[in-house]
Amino acid sequence: MKILMVCLGNICRSPIAEGILQHKAKQNGLDWTVHSAGTNGYHIGEAPHRFSQKVCKQHGIDISRQRATCFLSRHIEEYDLIYALAEDVYEEIKKIGGPNAPMHKVKMFLSELHEGSTASVPDPWYGDESGYLPVYQIIDQTCDAIVAKALKS
Ligand code: 4NP
Repeated sequence: MKILMVCLGNICRSPIAEGILQHKAKQNGLDWTVHSAGTNGYHIGEAPHRFSQKVCKQHGIDISRQRATCFLSRHIEEYDLIYALAEDVYEEIKKIGGPNAPMHKVKMFLSELHEGSTASVPDPWYGDESGYLPVYQIIDQTCDAIVAKALKS
């Protein structure tokens, strides 16, 4: 199973989601490939934000080797499941994918925590370091739900 986590810049939220889900999948013996990308491409080639790296490291997850990439329409074909971490990101994915994109593969990330939810993971980019732990925690809980669902099925 190939999963893609998508946010705007691919430096704050989706690198955390990639790191956590990769870690939990491995711990649970799930043979998943997890990558991440951003819809705006402003930070292509950059490592994750230092506070995203720090909060992951504090929880035993090393995301320092990730590099930001830009979300492309072909990714909708290449991945089995694409998680939009925010509503504006979902809309961008739809726009980039065009009218024939298989949007059934694209889900709101937090809908795995609360069924039917269209809520967004808050963007910590505009705030200070204190915003990163709550973002880590909500992503962690949601990744737990994703893995639990997979183990049940
Ligand atoms: P992310 O946060 O989408 O969680 O990576 C952002 C990072 C950078 C920008 C926006 C959001 N930016 O506009 O540069």
